[in-house]
Amino acid sequence: MTAAWRTARLTGTLIAGMLAGAPAASAQGSGTVGIEPERLYGNTCAFCHSRPFPPFPAPELRGRNLDPATITFFVRHGPGAMAPFRASEISDEDLNRLGAWIAASPAPPKPVLPPMPPSQGAKP
Ligand code: HEC
Repeated sequence: MTAAWRTARLTGTLIAGMLAGAPAASAQGSGTVGIEPERLYGNTCAFCHSRPFPPFPAPELRGRNLDPATITFFVRHGPGAMAPFRASEISDEDLNRLGAWIAASPAPPKPVLPPMPPSQGAKP
């Protein structure tokens, strides 16, 4: 994560705190509460990790027998190009349930894409 990106996220949190009329510190550790893992995955991770068609920004996580502890570690620390999620965004409890859900999830079916109409195909 670049310093600029970190600053942008921090600034966003501060502004959100000010708009809500609450001190920014009160947002610490108060992320999602009791959200279903499947919904959390769909809302938060699938945009990058489970796209049905290219571009694929990130590898599929389901059906790989990943260790739940590895998943939660990566979410908190942000490997490579992925930004980390803090406890003020995803609570520890919800993250643990998400890790277990991803680890137990089967691989999604391979997408079957219709052929692209010639008029919308890539230009040579
Ligand atoms: C904005 C896009 C984006 C979002 C949203 C995102 N990730 Fe990632 N994630 C990535 C990218 C890109 C990588 C690969 C990083 C690298 O290897 O450089 C990655 C890597 C990972 C890895 C390591 C996988 C591997 O095969 O190395 C895990 C585990 C992971 N993400 C979990 C999650 C979870 C769980 C969520 C939702 C809470 C999530 N990510 C949300 C982009 C994203």
